Amino acid sequence: MPAIPHLRLGVNIDHVATIRNARGGRHPDPVRAAKLAIAAGADGVTAHLREDRRHISDDDIARLKAEIAKPLNLEMAATAEMVAIALRTHPNAACLVPERRAERTTEGGLDVAGGRADLAPKIGELRGANIRVSLFIAADPSQIEAAAAVGAPVIEIHTGAWCHALADGNAGLADSEWRRIREGVRLAKSLGLEVHAGHGLDYASAETIAALPEIVELNIGHFLVGEAVFVGLDETIKTMRHAMMRGRARATAGENRP
Ligand code: PXP
Repeated sequence: MPAIPHLRLGVNIDHVATIRNARGGRHPDPVRAAKLAIAAGADGVTAHLREDRRHISDDDIARLKAEIAKPLNLEMAATAEMVAIALRTHPNAACLVPERRAERTTEGGLDVAGGRADLAPKIGELRGANIRVSLFIAADPSQIEAAAAVGAPVIEIHTGAWCHALADGNAGLADSEWRRIREGVRLAKSLGLEVHAGHGLDYASAETIAALPEIVELNIGHFLVGEAVFVGLDETIKTMRHAMMRGRARATAGENRP
């Protein structure tokens, strides 16, 4: 059996900026949180520069790129403005997400199948600058196939619907969403895509999904920052890493069902 790859943890620090912005000023500093996350075992840091700058600012992105010792994953809408910022800042990775101003968070996946003509040149520009591009999509076969066809090397599967079903105790929906994710990551891997996942993950769901050996990175924000209020970022991230390691051990044992 081929070796199961290490499962990376990307910590999304947007919510630290949300708290800072509630009062203006500089505290709490998302760059400090990013450094703490890395010290606690994060493999990288993710930040979403939204078009309305509601949390992360342009200056945060510049400071993250200059000051952190691990890869920066810039989450961004596929717009000319954001592509220009990415080309200037040169993050290690850019995750293209759909963005609607009225949404509370990134609510759905990118429509790659319908937006191919617009996405292809942007992906090309980012890749040309040696920025690793991922597309945040639902585990939908047509979107996964479109992501491979449009030239993205990486996809991030949107786990929100599965996580919400788990949180709501809707076992039937959770099971069907889980099967959609499991089939989707297998399809993606068979098409040569690198597979990441994220949205709504907590200790339990991260442990479960870590058992899918095709997935090599999880990006997690809301739960980690929320839990850090109670036990601190260091302990939260270490506990998350242990959950992911337990899940990965199940992958090694050949189990991948919750
Ligand atoms: N991945 C992507 C592409 C996202 O948009 C988000 C939310 O910003 C996350 C991961 C993290 O989701 P959560 O904050 O629910 O852990």
